Amino acid sequence: MIVTIDGPAGSGKSTVARLLAERLNFRFLDTGAMYRAVALAVLKASADENHHTAVAEVAKGVSISFDEDRLLLNAQDVTSEIRSPEVTAISSIVAANPEVRKRLVELQRDIGKLVNMVMAGRDQGTVVFPDAEHKFFVMADLEARARRRQRELAYEGVQQTLPVVMEQLRQRDERDETRVHAPMKPAINALVVDTSNLTIAEVVEMLIDRVQVR
Ligand code: DC
Repeated sequence: MIVTIDGPAGSGKSTVARLLAERLNFRFLDTGAMYRAVALAVLKASADENHHTAVAEVAKGVSISFDEDRLLLNAQDVTSEIRSPEVTAISSIVAANPEVRKRLVELQRDIGKLVNMVMAGRDQGTVVFPDAEHKFFVMADLEARARRRQRELAYEGVQQTLPVVMEQLRQRDERDETRVHAPMKPAINALVVDTSNLTIAEVVEMLIDRVQVR
């Protein structure tokens, strides 16, 4: 069985997806981490993130795999590196490249064939798994998401003001929503959950109820 959870950055979707997978005894895949891995490979190759063919070449040449919770890029553990501000800044540019998407969608479908999965991303319910049994779109207003992101950054030792974090999220949302290939949007049959005023635990309960009832 496939459960998809799509939504914007800071909506809480990855945390919710991880907890939901634990409760259901499913595997969890954070597809955003895969786009981040390609973005990191682009940085490492000193390629121009806006150069279509250069980015496509990098994407073709990389190997991306998972070892439990660790993400391996060309067999190297890059789990922490893909969270850097430099990678975050270009990830949505790299993710707009259709060759990158083609490569990663294939990988995601292969992984989805193996076991029961909770897939988190932007296009899991719309493009990658249109026939998924359960689809959710988890969102929150920009300020709520920016406050969460600001807390995460502070935890990592990075201090940023709320307006700066809001602007970064807004730009990323805009790129993810307006790109031509697989733009971020709820699938027609997805349940849209606004998490602005909900705790993570409340969201997980809501999703569990939905998955177990049907
Ligand atoms: O979820 P995240 O912030 O780690 O994702 C990083 C970038 O990857 C984000 O800007 C959008 C992109 N992405 C995507 O286009 N499709 C997905 N399924 C997952 C992420």
